[in-house]
Amino acid sequence: MDRMNKEVILEVKGITKLFPGVRALNKVNFNLYESEIRALVGENGAGKTTFVKILSGAYQPDEGEIYLRGKKVVIPDPYQAQQMGISIVYQELNLIPYMSVARNILLGREPRTSFGFVNTSELIKRAKELMEILEIDIDPESFIYELPVAQQQMVAIVRALSVNPDILILDEPTASLSEHEVEHLFKVMMNLKKRGVGIIFISHRLEEVFQVADSVTVLKDGEVVATKSIKEINQDKLIKMMVGREFVNIFPQKTPITTKKEAVFSIRGLTKKGVLKNINIDLFRGEIVTIAGLQGQGQRELVRAIFGILPVDKGEIYLEGKKIKITNPRDAIKAGIGFLSDDRKTEGLILCRSIRENISLPTLKRRGVWGFVKRKEEKEAVISQVKALDIRTTSIEQEAQFLSGGNQQKVIIAKWLLSNPKVIIFDEPTIGIDVGTKIEIYHRLRKLAQEGTGILIVSSDMIEIIGMSDRVLVMFEGEIVAEIPAEKISEEKIMAAAAGEKTP
Ligand SMILES: Nc1ncnc2c1ncn2[C@@H]1O[C@H](COP(=O)(O)OP(=O)(O)OP(=O)(O)O)[C@@H](O)[C@H]1O
Ligand SMILES: [Mg+2]
Repeated sequence: MDRMNKEVILEVKGITKLFPGVRALNKVNFNLYESEIRALVGENGAGKTTFVKILSGAYQPDEGEIYLRGKKVVIPDPYQAQQMGISIVYQELNLIPYMSVARNILLGREPRTSFGFVNTSELIKRAKELMEILEIDIDPESFIYELPVAQQQMVAIVRALSVNPDILILDEPTASLSEHEVEHLFKVMMNLKKRGVGIIFISHRLEEVFQVADSVTVLKDGEVVATKSIKEINQDKLIKMMVGREFVNIFPQKTPITTKKEAVFSIRGLTKKGVLKNINIDLFRGEIVTIAGLQGQGQRELVRAIFGILPVDKGEIYLEGKKIKITNPRDAIKAGIGFLSDDRKTEGLILCRSIRENISLPTLKRRGVWGFVKRKEEKEAVISQVKALDIRTTSIEQEAQFLSGGNQQKVIIAKWLLSNPKVIIFDEPTIGIDVGTKIEIYHRLRKLAQEGTGILIVSSDMIEIIGMSDRVLVMFEGEIVAEIPAEKISEEKIMAAAAGEKTP
């Protein structure tokens, strides 16, 4: 990148941040130039979020200095950060669920009437204008909790941009976005870049880094490994810098089944008016089946219906040939079905409980009584999962809320792996998971399948779908419109079916 005549907007010198028992950042130096899109990458727990939270005033550093356009500053809180021109979209969205989209966008800056009340019509008008500039089509009057995560993400981005920042920070903004929305976001980023805005972009999807960034900084264990221009690096080199070793096989050997004899799990005629149309699925022992499709075609609803979260009009579920009745998640867990939700924050974790408790929860439920589980056994089982998935923590007694985003997700995965279910449904299993662990998870899933667990994955990650599936089912408008066997899986085939093209 040509930095010759560009001004440095941000200079960070020797930032250190300590949490009890962890040095989250160690003497980090970091410069950002005008019109620069800088990717920030690293393993789960490397310190990325901690770093940007210091820039947004959410955390105070223990050591180090920050300069904005050459002037030394202290960033006392997120509000002041905004005043200084730094705007952030957090990894865990902090929108207010029971407030409107418009109110969330302009929170703290609401237009008021002469009596001091919020001027609702003006509020909606302004929010609409802001969204129009960014070509985002969301009803400003709808409540946040009514929106899918992807739209919430877009609202958070509109909010961050509404203050015309000089520096924009995006902490994994694409994790829950569809391909189309990602393209859109990148366009917005390019426009901001033209206007001189400096952007820090955190992502675990390295393809994106190469698509949009000018340069990349790698963090590892709280330290900067290197900052490189995107032109002088490639994906393999980047992975090596992040993880410290090279990878040969990202995906394990597939094991497509030849005889469709023993269905571990079957669904017959699952129907919910306007949402799911007569869904039939057989999951055979040993195979991994993925459900693909554009966002919002009923995938979310399907897996929630199976797990007893979403009531349906009709349909039957069979586990190992036996018909089972599921009216709530407890029934599902008892029957031996696990479900990793893509909504990890509300459906996956108990934030105020320890890692140990979170991981052993469904296992304990299944065995019934606390008394039957030996404490020592439980602890050993949890520790082995923590090791296998490389969950970065000071202790298994650490509360889940203090883990980095990716490590929280690993806890949920560990929980289901440990509970040894007959069928696990993974809704977007590797969102926010770093590349090294992703590979570990892929191999674990394959092993589970080989050992007989039925594995159903819902994914929007094309590379993952192609790499992992023995069979792909594609959904369109609440219906399964295509079934693609392993040897025929390709991006074109999946995309065609996802667009509604029916295959016989
Ligand atoms: N509030 C906190 N209290 C205690 N420890 C914390 C806190 N926030 C972060 N940590 C620890 O600091 C380290 C860095 O976490 P951070 O969230 O910055 O990682 P990250 O690079 O953003 O990871 P991810 O890719 O998973 O989001 C981790 O070991 C994490 O457990
Ligand atoms: Mg993070």
